[in-house]
Parts: sequence; C-alpha cells; structure tokens
Amino acid sequence: MAPLLITGGAGFIGSHTVLVLLEAGHELVVLDNFANSSPLALDRVLELAPAGADQRLHVIDGDVRCAEDLDRAFAAAAAPITGVVHFAGRKAVRESVEQPLLYWDVNLGGTRSLADAMARHGCELVVFSSTATVYGEPEVFPLVETMPTPPVHPYAQTKLAAEQLLAAMVRSRGWRVAALRYFNPVGAHPSGRIGEDPDGIPNNLFPYITQVAAGRLERLRVFGDDYPTADGTGERDYLHVMDLAEAHAVALDYLLQRAEATQITLNLGTGRARSVLEVVQAFERATGIPIPYDVLPRRAGDVPKLEASVQAAAQLLGWQASRSLEQMCSDGWAWQRANPNGYR
Ligand code: UD1
Repeated sequence: MAPLLITGGAGFIGSHTVLVLLEAGHELVVLDNFANSSPLALDRVLELAPAGADQRLHVIDGDVRCAEDLDRAFAAAAAPITGVVHFAGRKAVRESVEQPLLYWDVNLGGTRSLADAMARHGCELVVFSSTATVYGEPEVFPLVETMPTPPVHPYAQTKLAAEQLLAAMVRSRGWRVAALRYFNPVGAHPSGRIGEDPDGIPNNLFPYITQVAAGRLERLRVFGDDYPTADGTGERDYLHVMDLAEAHAVALDYLLQRAEATQITLNLGTGRARSVLEVVQAFERATGIPIPYDVLPRRAGDVPKLEASVQAAAQLLGWQASRSLEQMCSDGWAWQRANPNGYR
C-alpha cells in the first residue's frame, strides 16, 4: 500500500486514526510539532498496533507551515506519498477570538503550505479535519452539509477557508478531497492507553467530567439550564473517537478508489444530540461514579444545540457511528483512570 502523510498525527483524533490506519496495513509518515500533543501517544499507538508496525510508521518533528519540514515528511517513506490526512491545527474557540492571527496562520496558512508541498510532490488526495462549528448558530436540525455556513469565530472561519482552499484545488487541479465536519468527538481507545490529554483545566465537557470522576476537579459546572432544549441544558452530537477514526480510513479508501476530481463534504456524528445532563447520567450509569454539579450561567459563545444529519456519510461511505454514549463514557473513563495526568 502506498504511504500516507498524517499531519497532527500525535493529537487526540490523529493518534486514534493512526492506529486504525496501521491496523489496515498502511505505511504512514506522521508530521507533528507536538504543540498540543505528546510523542508518547505514538509510542502507545505502536504498542497497540500489529507486530512490526513500527517499520511502517515514520515520525517527523516539524511544522505544517514550514516547507522544509513538509519536504522532509514527503521524503520520509520509501515510496511517494499518495494521500494526506490533515489534522494539524488549533481548535480552541476562545483562543481563536483572542489570537485570530495565530488561527489564520496555523489553520489556513498550514493548509496552504501543505497544499503547496502536495503540488510539489505530485500528491493530490487529502482528507481534511473540519468542524461542525462552520454552521455558526443554526436553528434547524439535523444539520445537512448543504445548509449555510456562516461561521461566527476565527476557529470556524479558518476551517471553512481551508475547506474552500481545498475545494479550489479540486476544481483547478482535479484533486480528490474529503472535508470531514466533526461534531463532538469523545471517549478513547478501549485499551485506555491512548486518549484526550488537554493542557490545564479542560474547556470541554467530557474531559471535565472524567477529571471530576478522578477527583482532580471538585464539581462539574453546567453552563446554562435555560436553553430551548428538552431539559434546558446544551445539546451536542457526541461521537466515539474510534468511530471517528474509522471514518477517516473509509473516506481515504473512497478517495483512493477514484481517479477523477472528487470533492465530498461530510458531517461526522451519530445523528442524535444529547444534553449535558444526559451525558452526566450516562457517565454515572457507565462507571458507577457520581458527578456532582452546579448550574452556572450560559458560557459565552455556546449554541443551544448541534445535531448532524448523518445520511450523506452513510450513503457515500457506508459509514455510521456504532458505539453508544455509555461506551464513550466507559472508554473515556478507562483512559482517565489509568492516566490521571495524561501523557505527563
Ligand atoms: C467546543 C468548541 C468546538 C470544538 C470542540 C472540540 C466552543 C463554542 N466550541 O465544542 O469548536 O470543535 O469544543 O474541541 O467552544 N459544558 C458544560 N460544562 C463544561 C464544559 C461544557 O456545561 O465544563 C457544556 C457546553 O455548554 C455545551 C456542552 O457542554 O453545551 C459541550 O461543550 P464542549 O465539550 O466544550 O463542546 P462544544 O462547545 O460543543
């Protein structure tokens, strides 16, 4: 099998996807600057991967904005790279509001310099990490890929711009591109060896809950119970990170089987939104650990609800998420319990 380049392959979604792709037999070059990830994640991936997979994994410490680093990555495998999975980027909404230039630089500039390097090396196939936040503040659900995308913060704006840059390469150069719009990926590999490792106090609901369960944080803060939702708390479409990782393998196969210019844009979720309180209850059921919480005012920038239409991914790729909310909770907890300080 021809080798693939995985940018940001040491991160949360990247590391789980690298494992799935090694299991599928691919040779991989991971390019990561470890800005928000640890090289240990890739050591753990190799423990879980089939014997001898270390021969098929090349790791380059480098930056996706740097042409020299990209050239090193494209030269790291024995055969030419035939496809890219582009995870590398920054993903914190509030940080993007405070540091917009950083987001335009890393997320759009990184995609631009990657596309440049792909053109230099004759590689014309890419699976891109996009986000459900490109839909802005939607009011009609489920969200279909053809609905308007009025992103409201630099994080989503830079992801949408990168989608558009890659779409232009499909039209002008006949590239094959999949933009995958992730809803809320959570959980961990069931082994508990790899998982999400946020820096400092988590912003996101799931790692916050697992840290309360571990006793690292005292009580969950529920941001708002006066939303126009069933129980008043925010609703999101949470999906298991292993389902998400598998979707990348399927999207790659879809593009690799095509010779003609191809552009697909797909939501990746379960199609079912869950409230904050539903997640808390599922976690308590799955682990037997009570999660004490206080209700606080709404968090600035949060939307009431996100829920994917998952029909397009099912029709085009034959992919649908299969793991339950309870599995997301028990697998996320197994990781947190075994690694109270993440990879540190
Ligand atoms: C956030 C980002 C999104 C990013 C995703 C993954 C925002 C507005 N969106 O999604 O762009 O792709 O993380 O990194 O930041 N909640 C609590 N208490 C908490 C944390 C969260 O009640 O301590 C609630 C939120 O109000 C929300 C839900 O839980 O209703 C999910 O929040 P979170 O896990 O942060 O994800 P998003 O905000 O959807």
